[in-house]
Amino acid sequence: MLKRCGRRLLLALAGALLACLLVLTADPPPPPVPAERGRRALRSLAGPSGAATAPGLEAAAAAAPGAPVREVHSLSEYFSLLTRSRRDVGPPPGGAPRPADGPPRPPAEPLAPRDVFIAVKTTKKFHRARLDLLLETWISRHEEMTFIFTDGEDEALARRTGHVVNTNCSAAHSRQALSCKMAVEYDRFIESGRKWFCHVDDDNYVNVRALLRLLGSYPHTQDVYLGKPSLDRPIQATERVSENKVRPVHFWFATGGAGFCISRGLALKMSPWASGGHFMSTAERIRLPDDCTIGYIVEALLGVPLVRCGLFHSHLENLQQVPASELHEQVTLSYGMFENKRNSVHIKGPFSVEADPSRFRSVHCHLYPDTPWCPRSAIF
Ligand SMILES: *[C@@H]1O[C@H](CO)[C@@H](O)[C@H](O)[C@H]1NC(C)=O
Repeated sequence: MLKRCGRRLLLALAGALLACLLVLTADPPPPPVPAERGRRALRSLAGPSGAATAPGLEAAAAAAPGAPVREVHSLSEYFSLLTRSRRDVGPPPGGAPRPADGPPRPPAEPLAPRDVFIAVKTTKKFHRARLDLLLETWISRHEEMTFIFTDGEDEALARRTGHVVNTNCSAAHSRQALSCKMAVEYDRFIESGRKWFCHVDDDNYVNVRALLRLLGSYPHTQDVYLGKPSLDRPIQATERVSENKVRPVHFWFATGGAGFCISRGLALKMSPWASGGHFMSTAERIRLPDDCTIGYIVEALLGVPLVRCGLFHSHLENLQQVPASELHEQVTLSYGMFENKRNSVHIKGPFSVEADPSRFRSVHCHLYPDTPWCPRSAIF
């Protein structure tokens, strides 16, 4: 039986709302704005801008269980913090089968590939190392859905697919550069008129059939935010409400590295904080990366709860734990490093781990055995 991400929309939303309420009641009341934190935030607002110090990021530390609250000075520190907190909490919060996962939901709305806008975020440095693998595998089957958002011209890439958007954003892996790309992705989606926006990274494999099944079970006109959190608690952040006033805010967000999706109904409501340059200023308000900013707009500003879905996977979780027998049901996969070890899904053949370290080629042949470069009579 398929493990889906919820039952009917109402139940899912009610469940998420209940979870949020539980969190709100179970949580100790948010600490009064610590004067020290406020001062630090203000000091750094007054200081030179840039990615060097991001006071909002100390929030991530507060969200890791048992982790001492401390400031996080760079994005890479922030990511290692996420990884650490993942290790501390064991199985991913959205990943474990939940009692809420009922029988397959009846399709709310059959979807065609052209109804979905998949934004793949990359950077010029990874066009060959990462993007070529995606173009060879899942993107080759779904070009009309897929739009690549990058930061540099690449004639070779433009020859392979017409759907390349040069965002003109900085190629730095900074908070600002990431938000700049997300802002362009959002604007292009709105222009496209499509029903669903999905964002993935250049180390994600998207199983489009599973994605269409999942999205087809929700009405795109309703408010739907689907993905998987990588923290086990809502993130605690500091929201700047005016020149000299900050206040604590907490919300769930779907980790960008696992991919997430937003219905058009919800995306339109996000417009005052997300469209035409507003996304960047919203991100500055909480000084957190792009995926957190999406969660901030959706959960904190619009009051729409994240629908957690265990079928999205990032490299911040142990991918060996995805059961091989359920690979065809997963919506996204990833690969990379986890706790200093190579992290990828476990699948037997047809390619060796040396020939296919991400396992994406093997997964692709499993899902699309008629692919010309897949060995005939492959054994999985
Ligand atoms: C990036 O710059 C080029 C050249 O100025 C322009 O044609 C293109 O529209 C810009 N892209 C975006 C997303 O603004």
